[in-house]
Amino acid sequence: MPSAYAEKKTLVAVVMGSDSDLPSLEPAIKILEDFGLKVETRVLSAHRTPLRMIDFAQKAEGKGLKVIIAGAGGAAHLPGMVASVTNLPVIGVPITTKALQGIDSLYSIVQMPGGIPVATVAINGGLNAGLLAAQILSTSDEMLKLKISKYRESLHNQVTQKDKKLTEIGAAKYLREI
Ligand code: RP5
Repeated sequence: MPSAYAEKKTLVAVVMGSDSDLPSLEPAIKILEDFGLKVETRVLSAHRTPLRMIDFAQKAEGKGLKVIIAGAGGAAHLPGMVASVTNLPVIGVPITTKALQGIDSLYSIVQMPGGIPVATVAINGGLNAGLLAAQILSTSDEMLKLKISKYRESLHNQVTQKDKKLTEIGAAKYLREI
């Protein structure tokens, strides 16, 4: 039987408190799509549209979603509130802010009370959120696991090539060339 991934079912949602968060979450959407995953993308504010947020989170598992990425900035309650009404894993992305550079978002998301976890990535860590979601999904899909291994291999090759070049031409020339 083909897996939900092979059948192109939507397994991941990327939700955000405001469309102003989208640039920070776009790397998550892109890497997931690069891996061949379909992504549901929503603007759902914990403070401005709390009932819509709760409705989405309560229905998420029933419609086949497996992982939720939630990004928010400032008093960033979206990831935690989504996590409070779903048993799906929630990955929180703190978004940078003008006043406090995203430290406020980070603390709001990472300091969850015991019992309701949110897997928090770095400030503006959209890429890692997408990768973590794909890795969670890959635990039950060999094809996706292979794509992640290939991605890791490409990272390895990039660094190896840079190391080789730096060793060959030295720091001064390397810096002039990049
Ligand atoms: C949060 O307030 C959002 O997640 C966003 O990061 C921040 C600012 O929102 P906007 O004023 O740009 O809509 O709820």
